[in-house]
Amino acid sequence: MTTDALKSAAAAEAIALVENGMKLGLGTGSTAKHFIDLLGAKVKAGLDVVCVATSKQTEVQARSLGIRVVTLDEEPYLDLTVDGADEIDSELRLIKGGGGALLREKIVAAASERMVVIADTTKKVKVIGKFPLPIEVVPFGLKATHAMIEALAAEAGCKGAILQRKAKDGSAFVTDNGNFILDCGFGRIDEPEELAEVLTLVPGMVEHGLFIGYCDLAFLAGTNGVERLESEPDV
Ligand code: 5RP
Repeated sequence: MTTDALKSAAAAEAIALVENGMKLGLGTGSTAKHFIDLLGAKVKAGLDVVCVATSKQTEVQARSLGIRVVTLDEEPYLDLTVDGADEIDSELRLIKGGGGALLREKIVAAASERMVVIADTTKKVKVIGKFPLPIEVVPFGLKATHAMIEALAAEAGCKGAILQRKAKDGSAFVTDNGNFILDCGFGRIDEPEELAEVLTLVPGMVEHGLFIGYCDLAFLAGTNGVERLESEPDV
């Protein structure tokens, strides 16, 4: 089975959760793309949903398939967001932002009743951090922001190269929000909550790619089937 087929299998599990009349958040990336393809087919067959996209790229794809896309201001409360992830641990803590859409992805996930992650099993890790943690920062004062992230992350036990993301042509990668991304190669993040907390102290930091307490359910597709990971219900 190809990785693409696995991504599609995970997306198929998530599409089964979609009901007529739902307000949906649409994720970004190659796995989310499969979900949007499947959703487009359902819409063509008569499904009535309204969607908020987490990136311009996703919006273009969704509209091209005839999916109704509105802004989050028009629909500020969503039923379900389906998105991919760069890493996920057994507590459903995520690293996201490989596609550079982490800020809108987090805003949309926070506005949703449920967030479901779809991925292939290679994204499942014991300790998150091998995938460089993306952090969205404002262009103003980039060096100062970089230095402060480095220092505070070290206090939280995270050290490693912090690199500004580049576009394919070598220029600075610019997010849909006009910001830059710093990719932090920490290797392992033993205390994600602590790191997330200290990062909020950096004024130039817009948002980080640690999604803690967002994901309710994950479908992880492997060659032996799709694993379902669910968060503990609140008591
Ligand atoms: C984009 C993301 C993506 O969900 C993440 O990078 C996973 O992408 P893919 O499904 O292509 O592996 O966070 O900002």
